[in-house]
Amino acid sequence: MTDRERIPVLSVSPSIDHSCTLARMATNENSVLRVGMVGAGMIFDETYRPAFERLRACPLYSKRTGPVEVELVGIASRTGRRAQRLREEFGSTLGHFAILSEPDSVEKLLDLGVDAVCIATPDDRHFEAAQTVLAAGKHLFVEKPSVLSLRQLDVLERLAKEQGVIAKVVYHKLLDPDHKKLRTLVSDKVLSQVTSGYCSLLEPKAISTGQFAEWIEGRNPGTYVAVHYIKLIDFTFGGRLVRVSATGQRGIVGPADGKTWDSVQLRLEYAYGGGREAAFDIHTSWVTPDNFPGYVEQEVQFRFDNGVWNGHSRKRGVELTVEGRTPIELKTTINNHYNGRFVEPWGDRSQRGYGIEVIERFLAEVAEVEFAGPDSERETRLEAARSLAYNDLSADRQTVAAVQAMEAILDRHATGRPGCVVEVNGPEGGLVLWEPGFAEPVVLYAENV
Ligand SMILES: NC(=O)c1ccc[n+]([C@@H]2O[C@H](COP(=O)([O-])OP(=O)(O)OC[C@H]3O[C@@H](n4cnc5c(N)ncnc54)[C@H](O)[C@@H]3O)[C@@H](O)[C@H]2O)c1
Repeated sequence: MTDRERIPVLSVSPSIDHSCTLARMATNENSVLRVGMVGAGMIFDETYRPAFERLRACPLYSKRTGPVEVELVGIASRTGRRAQRLREEFGSTLGHFAILSEPDSVEKLLDLGVDAVCIATPDDRHFEAAQTVLAAGKHLFVEKPSVLSLRQLDVLERLAKEQGVIAKVVYHKLLDPDHKKLRTLVSDKVLSQVTSGYCSLLEPKAISTGQFAEWIEGRNPGTYVAVHYIKLIDFTFGGRLVRVSATGQRGIVGPADGKTWDSVQLRLEYAYGGGREAAFDIHTSWVTPDNFPGYVEQEVQFRFDNGVWNGHSRKRGVELTVEGRTPIELKTTINNHYNGRFVEPWGDRSQRGYGIEVIERFLAEVAEVEFAGPDSERETRLEAARSLAYNDLSADRQTVAAVQAMEAILDRHATGRPGCVVEVNGPEGGLVLWEPGFAEPVVLYAENV
């Protein structure tokens, strides 16, 4: 039995009841955002579905936009089977949506007439779909990591500009209240210069051997989850990425000499003003035993000239034991801030958290661009949306550079050439790989990162 079956969402509550009431009062002449979805997997079910359910019950609202209805008009997925199951199970709360399958599922989705598209396919399939969406002049929201190379990022950035739309990436960890507090302390200079840190994110084996088994060949957990922390470090502390190194282990998900990685250790080095530097180690795995009490174990430590920040998912506050049910069926350490199902004090059932908030926030940004004033001022609103560094693709360059560098290093390692280092924005180019024993580097990206 899944969590969802145990506690059905009976009604969907707005996060701010007052605004929902206002929105409902004025729904006669509502603006409408038609949204398409690409990918109907785990993350759709976990965060997009509750977001769309809630928005269907309670339109977006701000004084500038008035009420804005959000309609999920279609889901494109490889075979359409999961989307079909979702329609059967959640049609009453999601509303009717079309199901489009391969080939050309994204084109078919666009043919329905959409304003924005969210992409939640495996990470090596983001680029193609994102390019198609932007070329059609639709706003884009893509799961992390946005894309796997700076070349791809260049194409998407250019298309978004040419077409006059926003292109954004999902980094929900930036909305975690703990990370917001960290950033506030840094931004208010309560915490001074960062000097080093480590982050770890350990996924259970069920992810690599079950959930992702279909597409995991040749992939690594670093790209999939370290990217959360790459972005957190990049966004919170600023600075210039200068060097990337990485290593990892194989032998559980695939053969010990193959290209599929069990775990990855990534190091990022940054430079700041005044000649200061910092180094961050990010350890990731998707082969942690399934009965590990942390389930998705997450830990960070950042050290500063004048302080230390420690965060630990298992020490955040809640530890639950239910005989015969934890830690597999129910989780022992529950992150109630990310995404939880609740009975609200006023009796409604709800599902909420920052994993859902980040999607609503993107749609609110689209609504602001399209509906918050006259067409003559759209360009100004568009620029304001693009200036938001937490999610705009134009601010994702160092994160994508780190991912591209890590993938190139692991690729060399898998062919018997471990120990490479990638230099960022050095004299030889934007992203330059140095291999031990070779005097000549390989330029991965010539322009400045
Ligand atoms: N924000 C987060 O914390 C978080 C958590 C999990 C996953 N993700 C991200 O979400 C994305 C998807 O992850 P998931 O866990 O949902 O994966 P999943 O394997 O459960 O689902 C992938 C979905 O994509 C569809 N798909 C695959 N290839 C396609 C194609 N060519 N065209 C159309 N649809 C296609 C599949 O049919 C499936 O519906 C990944 O980028 C992942 O990094 C983010």
